[in-house]
Amino acid sequence: MTTAPANPPPGLPTIHPETGLPGRVTVYEVGARDGLQAEQAVVPTAEKIKFIGRLRSAGLQIVEATSFVSPRWVPQLADAEAVLAGLGPDLAPYPVLVPNQRGLDRALDAGARSVAVFVSATETFAQRNLNMTRSAAIDAALQVTTAALENGLTVRGYVSMCFGDPWEGHVAPGAVAEVSGSLIDAGCYQVSLGDTIGVGTTGHVGRIIDAHLSLGIPADTLALHFHDTYGQALANVHAGLRAGITTYDASAGGIGGCPFAGSATGNLATEDLLWMLTGLGIATGVDMHAVVAAGAAMTRVLGKRTQSRVAAALSCDVNRPG
Ligand code: HMG
Ligand code: MG
Repeated sequence: MTTAPANPPPGLPTIHPETGLPGRVTVYEVGARDGLQAEQAVVPTAEKIKFIGRLRSAGLQIVEATSFVSPRWVPQLADAEAVLAGLGPDLAPYPVLVPNQRGLDRALDAGARSVAVFVSATETFAQRNLNMTRSAAIDAALQVTTAALENGLTVRGYVSMCFGDPWEGHVAPGAVAEVSGSLIDAGCYQVSLGDTIGVGTTGHVGRIIDAHLSLGIPADTLALHFHDTYGQALANVHAGLRAGITTYDASAGGIGGCPFAGSATGNLATEDLLWMLTGLGIATGVDMHAVVAAGAAMTRVLGKRTQSRVAAALSCDVNRPG
């Protein structure tokens, strides 16, 4: 006879662990960067700083803060220096995206301790996103990684369009894994595999991870980055958990998309990810209700509805805390 799970506190799921899944997961919050880069509105710097602070206070260990990219390409994040200035003194929990040496120099001047480089698995997106060929972008990212490591920073790598590309269609998992391998070899502590347009499905997640494992790239150096365009993101997280992946990118309120891939919507909502992980009994150290509050505050600033199903459900739940 199985024991009935304890009644959950209000506003939380009952806990039903599954065997074979990790006991702990890191949620890598990207709302302030991936989210805000794609919103039409340019959010005031002070609101960004408040948003990031709330997310960090909610227990998120990593809150990607902004990008040191060309302000002509991404005007929404043109205040990157001012955002970091408002977060100090310890900037280790706040990684920033850098596309080139110029971006790294700016990040270093602003006191960044952790950066992320980004490349594309496909040719077309490399050109649209970085104005470089795929291989030139990879070379640039590897050089920036080396320079960042020489400056004592930690470096994460992103590979975009791993699960399919709106212009090129299918992307070979082996080609994705080769790109990831070059980033890991250059010293990235982790590579985040981006489903930039949200087309991946659960079997596909397994294939892509297997392609990495078969090149000797361990699961604990990989993260998964799902946009929820086709509503597959949570299912894909579950496939990732079964394959032993323990870091997932998500955005509070599900805000965002990608300005250089029109079909991309926001990332998987952090609140929805936390609900599922909580229900599975997987520890994250994050207060889900505090993330709901942070996401709600930012969606109010944006004048939009939350994209998080959990946040929407809790907002009409009479039992919700607070
Ligand atoms: P470019 O126009 O080819 O650059 O852009 P350039 O090297 O020819 O320089 C042109 C001008 O930009 C120059 O200024 C440079 O100084 C300046 P000017 O002389 O004309 O006055 N410039 C910069 N200014 C500030 N910061 C910099 C910088 N670099 C050059 N870092 C570039 C090439 C890479 C800069 C541009 O294409 C760019 O910024 N791209 C970034 C696009 C972006 O941010 N995309 C979204 C992030 S990726 C993503 O969202 C996917 C991800 O979430 C994972 C997933 O979902 O798959 C990570
Ligand atoms: Mg993204």
